[in-house]
Amino acid sequence: MIYLDSAATSFRKPESVRRAMDGALARLSSPGRGGYPAAMRAADMCWLCRESAGGMFGCEPMSVVFTSNATHGLNIAINSVVPRGGRVVVSGYEHNAVTRPLAARSAIISVASAPLFDNAAILERFRRLLPGADACVCTHVSNVFGWILPIYEIAGMCADYGVPLVVDASQSAGTLPVDMRSLGARFAAMPGHKGLHGPQGTGLLLCSGEAEPLICGGTGSMSASPNMPDFLPDRLEAGTHNMPGIAGLKAGLDFVKRLTPERILRHEQRLRARLERELNAMPGLEVFGGGGAAQAGVLSVRSSALDSEVIAERLGRRGVAVRAGLHCAPLAHESEGTLRGGTVRFSFSPFNSEAEIMRTSQIMRDILIKS
Ligand code: ALA
Repeated sequence: MIYLDSAATSFRKPESVRRAMDGALARLSSPGRGGYPAAMRAADMCWLCRESAGGMFGCEPMSVVFTSNATHGLNIAINSVVPRGGRVVVSGYEHNAVTRPLAARSAIISVASAPLFDNAAILERFRRLLPGADACVCTHVSNVFGWILPIYEIAGMCADYGVPLVVDASQSAGTLPVDMRSLGARFAAMPGHKGLHGPQGTGLLLCSGEAEPLICGGTGSMSASPNMPDFLPDRLEAGTHNMPGIAGLKAGLDFVKRLTPERILRHEQRLRARLERELNAMPGLEVFGGGGAAQAGVLSVRSSALDSEVIAERLGRRGVAVRAGLHCAPLAHESEGTLRGGTVRFSFSPFNSEAEIMRTSQIMRDILIKS
């Protein structure tokens, strides 16, 4: 299979991740639940993973909270900073993991929309909308179009206007600098299973302020208290930890550090640019490219002759895995005028090769010719 759906999950995991998960099942019990060796080893693994993530993302290890995925982290962050009925500024490229929790809080949403890859235009929109807002929630990279939003400039404006910022780093963690100190964000949420190459069921929430637990329960600390502890990470980590996941995520972080995010991004952008050139030459295909350095390893297209779902299904039958439709981000499609029918999305990982890209374009050509 040619796997080009890494924006959904990086399915081809490093061998070291599998080994770490196997080892965890054999050797790790539950952190903070005992002083015996298996529990202590689990506590050590949690610490090592937090320390590794803290080093990569510019925050203290104890501010790194384990979650089940980015959605889980975003829900905690949004419930912590957005008052019921508050006004929240978002980009026009947010995922349902942002817009649905905001809707659940009856938030008034101000959308900073701008044409794809136009950083100056989107910054201007944020500048106009931020004054007086209760919070800003913004994606770092669009999961549909790969636009790398100018998040550091947006963060600077949030600081100027005293608006707490939540960063959705779902598509950037592992390929772009996500530095909590420079961002000054209240929270950044990310999955462990995309660019960090850990297993599904893992995620991280980086915190720099007060946070409200989404679920309450045992933490192995302050057990006599009826309330959740008031310190991180325990405040947000109720219940038994996903130790195979955390061990796998630690191995994924090591893998990213070895390759370096810069090299991974360059590789994925090279493959995206290559496929973009090939697809641009195909008649009847609209290619949402041209972002250059402002576009990560994600490329969307749509055809005037065939439905996106049909193209994805035909690609799948010929061994190419992609995602079509709305990608759980109707707002992004609305911003780009692709809400009706959506797009076919190609997304890349360090495991993809140029040969796979050439094979994919050949198959795309066949599919379009036969339509
Ligand atoms: N948000 C993920 C995607 O873009 C699941 O496919």
